[in-house]
Amino acid sequence: MKVLVVGNMGYIGPVLTKHLRLAYPQASLIGFDAGLFAHCLIGSAPLPEIYMDRQIFGDVRHIDKTVLEGVDAVVNLAAISNDPMGNRFEEATLAINYKAAVELAAAAKRAGARSYVFASSCSVYGCAEEGAKQESSKPDPLTAYARSKVMAEKELIPMADDRFTVTCLRFATACGMSDRLRLDLVLNDFVAGALSQKKIVVMSDGTPWRPLINVKDMARAIDWAVGRPAAKAGFGLIVNVGSNEWNCQVRDLAHAVAAAIPGVEVSINTNAPPDRRSYRVSYDLFKDLAPDFQPLSDLKSTIIEMIEGLQQAGFQNPDYRESQFMRLNVIRKFREEGLLNDKLEFSFSGKKIGVA
Ligand SMILES: NC(=O)c1ccc[n+]([C@@H]2O[C@H](COP(=O)([O-])OP(=O)(O)OC[C@H]3O[C@@H](n4cnc5c(N)ncnc54)[C@H](O)[C@@H]3O)[C@@H](O)[C@H]2O)c1
Repeated sequence: MKVLVVGNMGYIGPVLTKHLRLAYPQASLIGFDAGLFAHCLIGSAPLPEIYMDRQIFGDVRHIDKTVLEGVDAVVNLAAISNDPMGNRFEEATLAINYKAAVELAAAAKRAGARSYVFASSCSVYGCAEEGAKQESSKPDPLTAYARSKVMAEKELIPMADDRFTVTCLRFATACGMSDRLRLDLVLNDFVAGALSQKKIVVMSDGTPWRPLINVKDMARAIDWAVGRPAAKAGFGLIVNVGSNEWNCQVRDLAHAVAAAIPGVEVSINTNAPPDRRSYRVSYDLFKDLAPDFQPLSDLKSTIIEMIEGLQQAGFQNPDYRESQFMRLNVIRKFREEGLLNDKLEFSFSGKKIGVA
């Protein structure tokens, strides 16, 4: 089996790569990434890419089709991966998250790949507090990021047929340790604040619903999607990935972290304007289709994993919200240094990198 993981050098990629290497020791694993956050490592573990057979640097918008030769499965993680970046760089977000994702799938199909896995997001549900949203519920994307995922899904699903399965995994918000940790994710942010400042600052009024999933369980879900039988679910599939038990309100997450670390204060911004991005999600379909790949981590075990991981890495930075563990800060810095153009392409002295 030859698997191409596009966007493998972010937060989820390193965890997925290790998972695939252990699960399929004989597989050929190829990574393709622009390297935007390649340097954002935490701790002293070996470079995560040692688990790949080959690492290619390039831009998914200009991917050389020879990269797809002989590939059985493509996992596409490449994205401008949150709302603040999507709002600031809307054009690039649509170009990468939507257009390039569709073009990559078309090229993969032409090259003979049999499976394409797309990392979508439960944020497509936008404002959904009434009841848990199912895959058949109408999306209500509130941001450029969420819109890009809906637009991609819409064009990806019709590409599926008996020789090419397409699986759009609508992931809950990720949490947990990775060699390329992100601290701009809600639970990770709370644990970092609790450890470094003895304080958790909740930016919203704490009421939004936000389902979560541990990044290790995302890797297991991707493993399932790569080889899933099409008989039950069909060749093209959109499925929510997470667990019903992990539909939490943000304030409950904050209090759960505070309960795990003595002396931590929780500060909730009761004057914050309502955050409309609030959704509860049903994970029944995923449970039905992938009983052997259900999430294994829960809130408590993930908080402990985060505390131990950050302590082992010697993390103490109270200014972490200004650090390279926030994706937008890294992009901003590269823009200021002139390394990235406004389309978020690497460009040195006018030469675009990753453009043949
Ligand atoms: N982290 C979450 O909570 C979450 C939840 C739902 C879905 N997802 C999706 O999962 C995927 C991975 O998320 P993540 O948290 O690892 O994000 P990340 O930002 O850590 O990683 C994204 C990777 O994509 C690469 N990339 C970006 N633009 C590229 C381009 N033009 N060409 C090549 N590579 C490019 C980056 O260099 C980076 O390595 C994304 O599609 C994201 O939308 C993430």
